[in-house]
Amino acid sequence: MLVDAHCHLTGTYLEADQVEATLARARAQDVTGFIAVGTDLEDSRTVLALAVRTPGVQASLGVHPHEARSWSPEVASALEALLRHPAVRFVGETGLDWHYDLSPRDVQEAAFRAQIRLAKAIGKPLMIHTRSAPEATLQVLEEEGADAVCGIIHCFSEDRAFASRALDLGFYLSFSGIATFKNALAVRDVAAWAPADRILVETDAPFLAPVPYRGKPNEPGFVRFTAEVVAGLRGIPAARLAEQTTQNLEALCGWAPSS
Ligand code: NI
Repeated sequence: MLVDAHCHLTGTYLEADQVEATLARARAQDVTGFIAVGTDLEDSRTVLALAVRTPGVQASLGVHPHEARSWSPEVASALEALLRHPAVRFVGETGLDWHYDLSPRDVQEAAFRAQIRLAKAIGKPLMIHTRSAPEATLQVLEEEGADAVCGIIHCFSEDRAFASRALDLGFYLSFSGIATFKNALAVRDVAAWAPADRILVETDAPFLAPVPYRGKPNEPGFVRFTAEVVAGLRGIPAARLAEQTTQNLEALCGWAPSS
């Protein structure tokens, strides 16, 4: 049994009529749990509806840094109402993306801080997106007291120094297809070294397909390729890694797929 700790199954990411077939292919690979992630208010509504009606799917709802310019008091209160649903396990994805800069940096930071406060107010862990802003991301997490709820550094793509500070805050590190890329030396180093009880695996589908599907559209079933590589880096059987990461997700958010 394997859990994909972060995937996109809605809206512009996956056609609605493809969801069941995509999840069926994943289940055939023994991937039975899926954290489906919303990236703005409208997408979050769609993700929650999917989670409510689909066995093995739970939700992470928030406003992605790319969409941070859509943040407003009205969005915040509508999102908060959604976040209280029991099928919602995480707040986000939220964070900072200074690579694409699709929303102004100060706007990203304001939406990020607001979502950390929401997570603390309702007592659910965070789903963090960070790209090309490692120091600023850690600083915001530290200043806002994000260790009160912890969460996931999704698609981990930083180094040991970043990982150490994230781990000190109680965060879990989720490894994506990047860990299967031979030139991703720092990420592979962290995947080999990180504490067993703080690691997760994900696809971030439809992005970042692992080897041997690199460059192709990604889907949740492919998480097994990432899990096999991370297990290899750690020198443990893939089945052990699958068991450990499923336990870790349950320890963090209180949910694991039932079969
Ligand atoms: Ni994502």
